[in-house]
This record gives sequence, C-alpha cells and structure tokens, in this order.
Amino acid sequence: MALFALGDLHLAFQRPEKSMDAMGPIWVRHEEKIWKNCQDLIKPEDTLVLVGDHSWGRKLFQCREDLAFIARLPGRKILVRGNHDMFWEAQKTDVLNTEYAGKLFFLQNNFAAYGEYALVGTKGFTFEGPFLINRFTGEVLSWDQDAEKHAQKLVRREAIRLEDSFRQAWEAGYRKFLVFLHYPPTNILEEDSVFTRMAEKYGAEQVIYAHCHGKNQFQDSILGFHNGIRYRLVSGDYLDFRPEKILD
Ligand SMILES: [Fe+2]
Ligand SMILES: [Fe+2]
Repeated sequence: MALFALGDLHLAFQRPEKSMDAMGPIWVRHEEKIWKNCQDLIKPEDTLVLVGDHSWGRKLFQCREDLAFIARLPGRKILVRGNHDMFWEAQKTDVLNTEYAGKLFFLQNNFAAYGEYALVGTKGFTFEGPFLINRFTGEVLSWDQDAEKHAQKLVRREAIRLEDSFRQAWEAGYRKFLVFLHYPPTNILEEDSVFTRMAEKYGAEQVIYAHCHGKNQFQDSILGFHNGIRYRLVSGDYLDFRPEKILD
C-alpha cells in the first residue's frame, strides 16, 4: 500500500479550446503522460491525492469527462480543490461526495484515513502579488495593499476549513497527519503562515502543495524540511506528471 500525490492535471476533455498543449513542450498531450505514469506506478490498493486544478470545465456538466478520466486511474482517488476548479462549489462538497461515492473523494471540511494517518486538506491561499521588486537586489519594495487585504480574507476562510478538517480527524482519534493544500503554504518570502503554524500545532509530518507552474515558480515556497515538517511541491509540470510517492 502506498500514497501518491500529483497536482494540476488541468484536464480539458470537454473544453478543447483550453488545451494546455500551447503552455510548452512539457504540457503537450500531458493527459497521456498522466495516464501512463499512473498505470505504471499505482496499484489498486494504493491512494492517489490529486492536489487541485483538475478541470477547465466551469460547470460540473463540463467536467464530467475529466472526472471520469480521474475515476478510471488506478487506486483510491482523493481530490483537493484548486483555484481553477469552478465546478466545485465550496458549500457543496457533500453533494459531490454523495454523487461520486466509491469513485472519488472530495477533501474539504472532512478528512480521509490512510492507515494510521489522517489526510487533511483545503485549497489554501497565499498573496501572490504583484510585488514591486528591486531588480538588482531582489528585495521586495512594496505591493498592492488592497489586494493583500483581500487575500487575508481568503486566507482566513481557508484556515477555518483546514482547522475543521484537523479537528474532525483529531476527534476521530487520529494523531498523525498529512496536509494537502493546492496553494503553496507561504508567500514567496517563505514567511510562516497560518497554514505552516497549524501544521506545526497538530504535529503534521508533511505539507504537500501544487499550483506553482514553470521553473520560475517552482521555488516560490518551502521545499524540504522546515521546523520538522517536510514540504513538497507536486505540481504536474514540476513532476513531469509522474505522481510522487509520499508514503509507503
Ligand atoms: Fe494549476
Ligand atoms: Fe492553481
């Protein structure tokens, strides 16, 4: 039994105009790479966490083929909400879980068990700028204050969702945790955030995130160990669409 993670599938079976092929060579027919890598790596008894940005469909009916593709991948599939997942209304996670019961599990305001671990997660959020940066020293000089204020509101909402996920798992008796966030857990300055502090408070072993595309963004947040927690980026193009093994 093993646990794998991969983010940013960005499927577009019903919206071919949103095909990712134009995003660079790594994205050309990327869904075929996802399919082959999953078949090679993942066994029926394994678990695959898909860390957000699943589909370009705006409404659920435009995502059916994308979700069916994910459901056909081997193993148990757990989905985290990404910023592009417009089909997944925040208040209707239970509806999705009822409809896709036995095929897909949507992780938000709930948790999933993996052996003695609880998998907790939510979309997360972090302020991504724009920043005014000194081009010689790389120092951040200023940023859009209104945009940052708005970001703080979104961060608070996501923190409440993650705490709810942790609380439910804790009350069910779990003491080992893995955290899944679509957004990176910190801003580009890698300052501690409500998400890193919460992971530390509950003693989470790993924080797994996605969303960062292109080699200029791969270093946007923590990679490796920080305060005893392992941080891992699993965005699709970072991994060339090969799911990362998180636990045996
Ligand atoms: Fe993405
Ligand atoms: Fe994203």
